[in-house]
Amino acid sequence: MKHLLISLFFTCGFLEASQNSALLFHGNCTTCHFETKAVSAPSMMEVRKRYLSAFPQKKDFIVQMSNWVKNPNEERSIMLDAIKKYELMPNLAFEKDVLEDIAGYIYETDFIKEHSPH
Ligand code: HEC
Repeated sequence: MKHLLISLFFTCGFLEASQNSALLFHGNCTTCHFETKAVSAPSMMEVRKRYLSAFPQKKDFIVQMSNWVKNPNEERSIMLDAIKKYELMPNLAFEKDVLEDIAGYIYETDFIKEHSPH
């Protein structure tokens, strides 16, 4: 019984964390980055594709994306063409750990398929 409670606790904690990062992404990034359509910024599907080809390992993907979003700049951009087309992304002043959660969610999410929290 004790084991069951412990594993329930961990499962709920995990679900809550991934649900949170989904909500954080949908609340903060999709105003500019539509999931599959380029509007005022490249679609998140496109950004994810570029990051996946540059940083295939989840750990690198998260480090690179969260660092860049924390401090958007031309020097470390891997999407200079997007900066030319849309101008540099503004600094959104998020905490680093929040950005790491969001980057982890983006890594895991195939935006073409159905995904949480839709
Ligand atoms: C106010 C609009 C806006 C919001 C909100 C926004 N972005 Fe962006 N973002 C842009 C634009 C425009 C670009 C393309 C130009 C560039 O790369 O700077 C971009 C580019 C990017 C890039 C490509 C970086 C590169 O190498 O050039 C990443 C990664 C990114 N955004 C992640 C995010 C994440 C994650 C969020 C949510 C936390 C977010 N963006 C919210 C406008 C926005």
